[in-house]
Amino acid sequence: MAKSKTQFVCSECGADYSKWQGQCGECKAWNTLKEFREATGAAARQPNFQDDKRTGFSGSRSQIQKLSDVSLEEQARIPTGMGEFDRVLGGGLVSGSAVLIGGHPGAGKSTLLLQTLCHLARQLPVLYVSGEESVQQIALRAQRLNLPMDALSILAETSVASITETAQETRPRILVIDSIQVMHAPDVESAPGSVSQVRESAAWLTRFAKQTGTVLILVGHVTKDGSLAGPKVLEHMIDASVMLESSGDSRFRTLRAIKNRFGAVNELGVFAMLDVGLKEVKNPSSIFLNKSSEPSPGSVVTVVWEGTRPLLIELQALVDGTSMGHPRRIAVGLDTNRLSMILAILNRHGGVFTGDQDVFLNVVGGVRVTETSADLATLLAVVSSLRDKPLPKDWVVFGELGLNGELRPVPNGLERITEAAKHGFRKAIVPKANAPKKPIEGMTVIGANRLDDVFSAWADV
Ligand code: TYD
Ligand code: MG
Repeated sequence: MAKSKTQFVCSECGADYSKWQGQCGECKAWNTLKEFREATGAAARQPNFQDDKRTGFSGSRSQIQKLSDVSLEEQARIPTGMGEFDRVLGGGLVSGSAVLIGGHPGAGKSTLLLQTLCHLARQLPVLYVSGEESVQQIALRAQRLNLPMDALSILAETSVASITETAQETRPRILVIDSIQVMHAPDVESAPGSVSQVRESAAWLTRFAKQTGTVLILVGHVTKDGSLAGPKVLEHMIDASVMLESSGDSRFRTLRAIKNRFGAVNELGVFAMLDVGLKEVKNPSSIFLNKSSEPSPGSVVTVVWEGTRPLLIELQALVDGTSMGHPRRIAVGLDTNRLSMILAILNRHGGVFTGDQDVFLNVVGGVRVTETSADLATLLAVVSSLRDKPLPKDWVVFGELGLNGELRPVPNGLERITEAAKHGFRKAIVPKANAPKKPIEGMTVIGANRLDDVFSAWADV
């Protein structure tokens, strides 16, 4: 039995420690340190998969090259055939890259991959390795989803050494591991799913991918209790990490890039889980909006910029007299500090006092807003709820608020207004600098300099 060195690794952030402690010194999470045995046997001496000049990795000694001499041809993207998936990846899969698809069990990771791979397999050699489901289960699902089944190679296996051995013989261009939590590497003693196994197995597989120019797709389950190694442990090893999450309505799934060496992060892809598998939602704005006919107080529609496209979302506020001494400010899907700042601006420059009110704010549909363009909508939602006065149904607002009560422009103003017009909105209140020079058909745009301009436009209704 190979000797091994014991270490402790945080399953949240991947920080290393030589001794166990209750709290991780890096990310401050409690009880996340897991024992990790560094392999010194075969796992430490990983085989050299291919001495390949093209990828620049070799088992023996790598050569220095000039950046301009590096061959770029293999960087060509492989489109997955699903537009929303490609968008999140930054335009398709890149050869030699490792992609992690994370999500809660049942999110639809296996379904998404099975659907894309069955189609991709017709053009490229692809290997789908399942350690969770039997080959029969996969075949049954593919049949039920009516997918082309003739080209996809599948393998039920959980040993990374056997997987890379098979892959070296069959040379797939795309290798899918479903999931990394059930894989085990040689000479690592701990149970599959433990930090050590996940880390060693992923290292083994990414090394294979880099050396052979194979696209590696790892599936990783996220659990709340942290009993399995979270994908955080893997994040430094992989090139792109995407999360498949279910948003408010359980039918919809959002795919979001957390890290991407080959594209924009915060790109959002939207899917619907139907009885025929995952379907792309080409027009996601429509699903996050409430179609009810009655305008309701506290509800405001705004346009946020998600990666490379506009997205219409609805903000809801509930403002209610506080029953305890200390008023509460709770924001779901939005930064609570930002909400407090907006309430201060509202008091100082809008003359609306909320110091004796609890303020709850929610972004409908489970969307997370990180942009400042939602400031104006937040403020109006609060005022609308406080006064019990709805905003007209066909209004859309966006803009950043400055601490002096001024409205500041946000990027891509025109695209945002056009998107809102496409969805039937007729009046847009935006920062003056975002108001387009040319009129937009069917849309009245009010360019506002300050909060006062916004309130007087609302008073005129
Ligand atoms: P799955 O891809 O197995 O999830 P993961 O691999 O992320 O754990 O998806 C399983 C869920 O998706 C399950 O709850 C059933 C649902 N589902 C559908 O609603 N329709 C379908 O056509 C399929 C294949 C799954
Ligand atoms: Mg699965």
